[in-house]
Amino acid sequence: MAFDIDMIKKVYETIVERVDKAREITGKPLTLSEKILYAHLWDGTPSKAFVRGKDYVDFAPDRIACQDATAQMALLQFMQAGKTKVAVPTTVHCDHLIQAKVGASADLQSAMNNSSEVFNFLESVSNKYGIGFWKPGAGIIHQVVLENYAFPGGMMIGTDSHTVNAGGLGMVAVGVGGADAVDVMAGMPWELKFPKLIGVKLTGKLSGWTAPKDVILKVAGIVSAKGGTGAIVEYFGPGATAMSCTGKGTICNMGAEIGATTSTFGYDESMERYLRATDRADVADAANEVKDYLTGDAEVYANPEQYFDQVIEINLSELLPHLNGPFTPDLATPVGTMTDKAIENDWPLEVEWGLIGSCTNSSYEDLSRAASIAQQALDKGLKTKAEFGINPGSEQVRFTAERDGILEVFEKLDAKIFTNACGPCIGQWARYSDPKNAPKNSIVHSFNRNFAKRADGNPNTHAFVASPEITAAIAISGRLDFNPITDTLINENGEEVKLDEPTGWELPPKGFDVEDNGYLAPVEDGSGVVVNVAEDSERLQLLTPFEPIGDEIKGAKLLIKAFGKCTTDHISMAGPWLRFRGHLDNIANNTLIGAVNAYNKKTNFVKNQLTGEYNGVPDVQRAYKAAGIKTIVVGDHNYGEGSSREHAAMQPRHLGVAAVLVKSFARIHETNLKKQGMLALTFVNENDYDLIQEDDTFNFLDLDKFAPDSPLTIEVVHADGSKDVIKANHTYNQPQIEWYNAGSALNLIKRQNAA
Ligand code: F3S
Repeated sequence: MAFDIDMIKKVYETIVERVDKAREITGKPLTLSEKILYAHLWDGTPSKAFVRGKDYVDFAPDRIACQDATAQMALLQFMQAGKTKVAVPTTVHCDHLIQAKVGASADLQSAMNNSSEVFNFLESVSNKYGIGFWKPGAGIIHQVVLENYAFPGGMMIGTDSHTVNAGGLGMVAVGVGGADAVDVMAGMPWELKFPKLIGVKLTGKLSGWTAPKDVILKVAGIVSAKGGTGAIVEYFGPGATAMSCTGKGTICNMGAEIGATTSTFGYDESMERYLRATDRADVADAANEVKDYLTGDAEVYANPEQYFDQVIEINLSELLPHLNGPFTPDLATPVGTMTDKAIENDWPLEVEWGLIGSCTNSSYEDLSRAASIAQQALDKGLKTKAEFGINPGSEQVRFTAERDGILEVFEKLDAKIFTNACGPCIGQWARYSDPKNAPKNSIVHSFNRNFAKRADGNPNTHAFVASPEITAAIAISGRLDFNPITDTLINENGEEVKLDEPTGWELPPKGFDVEDNGYLAPVEDGSGVVVNVAEDSERLQLLTPFEPIGDEIKGAKLLIKAFGKCTTDHISMAGPWLRFRGHLDNIANNTLIGAVNAYNKKTNFVKNQLTGEYNGVPDVQRAYKAAGIKTIVVGDHNYGEGSSREHAAMQPRHLGVAAVLVKSFARIHETNLKKQGMLALTFVNENDYDLIQEDDTFNFLDLDKFAPDSPLTIEVVHADGSKDVIKANHTYNQPQIEWYNAGSALNLIKRQNAA
């Protein structure tokens, strides 16, 4: 079964009662976002109003989705929880580990050759624990979720930042780290700060060359890459209801590019059409029965300034197509104003590639509209100047687009049709043999992110984000500053021709079709399924439970005093290390190698107090571990900012770091440290950071009295024998102290299961 209609009906049964109660408690009409949040409280029926942007709240999501890169460590951890099945419907999608090089079938085969042990592992764990498994080539996580699992009024979490795509079908869908996903899989609540709310009122109607993508490209230009932080963006108004469901998905998808917690739209007829077209008439019928509860209250949308923290209004009738970039998706330029800007900034005007697809823009509507432009190149005798690459979002879309002759149009233009996978969107595009030394160039794509090196590994590739139809037009013209609304092109006969506006279908006129969608349902009873991980595997390693650190830390050494910014990337670098995401000991060899040593301002160069020699951080840490010596990491402000990557906490823990003592934490990282059974501490007096010296030894004086709201006392012994006694704050509540005592949150869950 692809989706669980009974679960959805249950959500709809409770949503009515809970939303009515929330309205009563808050004493005001509700936005859609608030309705979904209040309907998914872990404690059930709401009993108090939450303060937006302030209160931390426990939620009970309906679904979980994981992609292959992040699922590895998430599932390895879940296996530690002692459960026989996941507590919440979960799916795993193999999409990130497939390179785009030659074309779909050869690329898929080489991914199977290179990563078969990872795919086999994910498949067998999924089968064992009741998780739906989508094979390599089945599609990109967010497109597959939209087609199969997303439902209006639902809440889901996913181990990928573009999980937010499901807002296109009226969900609150949030990208999280593996540790959060594991908690929910194991039957625990998911904690989130009650988000602020940004309302985007869409008036007018999209027409001509303008597409849903241009809405979010415009919004990104208005609010910037951080403008949505801590907020849900809720779209409403006549322009919203007039838009297709998959177009709404595109807008929500790129909510990640403005840092939003998520984005969403109220249930409407476009969603109903999409549900019915994707074989989910029963979901549409169930949603219709509670449809007033699946959108914001009319009074909210009539007076948005009163109910949202910020309101933006966009008239779609006046919106122009945009090209955002390079290197950041919020640098917005309407087509027609590119020439001067590009010359001024020295952006190459010649465009070498146009890439269409990814999780952002690979719906049937997207492909058909882009194909209507590509067809004109054939009909009007235009030779395309840039190359085309297409990565369809799912096998269902690919199969249907092939059946309807859409892919053939691109193939006639010599387009490369890549696997239904992330490919060129995640640096898995083997465009160059030596990307680091590749030439400066421009490309246009319909993806979401365009950071340096993101597509092809070439730091000199200037990537611009656009709608699929604009991408097609620019690829045909080969010019970054081509404006299809006004400009003409010269065809092979020397004639001046103009591209007509794109046309397409919201949904396939003959319906969707697919032979093998790539889904593998888990067996009913997975107890007999064996999960094999080779002892000598360099990519996968079964986890062993962490031993409790205990209530005595004496004689601990300073591993590193990090200077300035220390993000999760500094603690656990990405890039080539992604390969080892499922092997804790191997990936631990990158631990803190990006952190700057406060004493010499170098990275990955710290003193080994046992030998007096300087060496890389992982090597020094392994030496302490071998000698049975605990260590401390000291850091500056906002330590661990960046991503929710749990590796940044698991790696130091694995290597034997006992405590992280900093001026302040990024909250998610602080929680991740707690979950791994470590001490996450902050200086009571920030200036004590300056007291810490390179040869220091630490004695915790009252760890045996570790209790909520009670600072810990640490004696810092310097090399000359002098001592400072400092106080360290913590934010552990009693259950979190139990995590510490048990060695990790998972150890505790396991123990509770066994009891
Ligand atoms: Fe994949 Fe790119 Fe989307 S990496 S999940 S296609 S953002």
